[in-house]
Amino acid sequence: MKDALVLLINLKTYDEGTGANALKLAKAAFSLGKEKVEIIFAAQATDIRMLSKETHIPIFAQHVDSVKFGSSTGWILPEAVKSAGASGTLLNHSERRIDFETAKRSLARCRELGLRVVMCAESPEKAQELASLRPDYIAIEPPELIGGDISVSKAKPEVITESVQKVHAVAHVPVLCGAGVKDGEDVRKALALGAKGILVASGVVKAKNPVEAIKNLLVGFE
Ligand code: G3P
Repeated sequence: MKDALVLLINLKTYDEGTGANALKLAKAAFSLGKEKVEIIFAAQATDIRMLSKETHIPIFAQHVDSVKFGSSTGWILPEAVKSAGASGTLLNHSERRIDFETAKRSLARCRELGLRVVMCAESPEKAQELASLRPDYIAIEPPELIGGDISVSKAKPEVITESVQKVHAVAHVPVLCGAGVKDGEDVRKALALGAKGILVASGVVKAKNPVEAIKNLLVGFE
């Protein structure tokens, strides 16, 4: 969806976001789809094929490695996630950090295959450094707010504005933000601060009613 705002739901390795639970959630999320908001799921590698086959939601990997076909036991081959149906991947998530050179190599591999890349960063400075590689998106997530109850847009709004400013000083890359995002108000604030979408995990996946949680978030995009 060109120029759409992004609601990226990271299933992490939560029980509620694994296997059949992931599928149920992805099917429900698809029915909530809105014009102008692209809902994407970042799934575990082992669930990508099933989710891609059974739903129409774009599925991203949570990580890929820069390896090529060959002898790389236990690594995640970009070609494999692509052929399983992924259309993109996260890189350098707070829970799966890589160094700058690895990020560069992995991004290059994704480019060869046409996989979109959301490059995560923990600070405005890191966001700027990674933006120089020109990924499809930069996602700013202060690690200390991840999984918590207070969103980045409420607790650290300056991190979003600074990231947008620093990223746009070096490249025309849209900035997403995440950490602690729970409701439409958090989303509205993030967009007002210059973000083009959000990353969310626990606010949806661990919610009592994940479908209602997604609906609440979507209100913030209106
Ligand atoms: O990738 C999104 C994630 O790190 C944010 O997690 O639980 O704070 O929404 P959460």
